[in-house]
Amino acid sequence: MLAIISDIHGNLEALTAVLDHIQSQKATEILCLGDVVGYGPDPLACLEMAVTFSFNLCGNHEEGVIQKPIDFSRNAEIAIKWTKRQVEGTAIWSEFLNTLSLTEKRGNILYAHGSPKLPTSEYLLPSDIGEPESPTRPTKLKSNFDLMEEYCFVGHTHLPGVFLESMKYIAPQDINNHFVLPRNEKAIINIGSVGQSRDHNPNACYVTTDGHSVRWHRVPYDLGKTQMKIRGTALPEFLANRLALGE
Ligand SMILES: [Fe+2]
Repeated sequence: MLAIISDIHGNLEALTAVLDHIQSQKATEILCLGDVVGYGPDPLACLEMAVTFSFNLCGNHEEGVIQKPIDFSRNAEIAIKWTKRQVEGTAIWSEFLNTLSLTEKRGNILYAHGSPKLPTSEYLLPSDIGEPESPTRPTKLKSNFDLMEEYCFVGHTHLPGVFLESMKYIAPQDINNHFVLPRNEKAIINIGSVGQSRDHNPNACYVTTDGHSVRWHRVPYDLGKTQMKIRGTALPEFLANRLALGE
């Protein structure tokens, strides 16, 4: 059993709760699809845990810290600059950078932060399925399906769900949080976010998979503590408030 997590965003309380939950699922490996840092108040403590995962992909927030923030919202940019001041020059940041890759491939499964085509920057959204009559409907998703063999796991949007090659989108709540990997078509599975959910459910989200099916788990955590920590830093208040709303 594999556990796949993403978008921890410096939220130590969410990460700790998820790691405890993963233990109860008897997962043998943890794969991380990026954005360990950014937005949250505990980047260093989260990095300490991330270096023990089987791999870490580079998220747009890592990229923003390594290079400089481009095309981020005002609050995200402030958070990246704050994060950079916390991590730069530390041994754990150097160690973490050595574990980073852009994508990973294991057999017929590809792993990317955002998408196969533009791993750190492209957002695959439910609206990309589009209208059946639209001439542009398949282009964005199709160009990504063309780059993968069978299945791809992504994070980045913080919106758990599945895109099928037949241009269908499935939300986890419509399938009881359990998806059987199809044998006759490709699928892109969004695993949701550990540290900053945006699907109006404030609980942390991650998946486990045995290679035949995928299960999303929602894990409550002490988000009041995370909010208090954010309010004790120079991070924008907005980042504390959104955690309770799951948006
Ligand atoms: Fe993210």
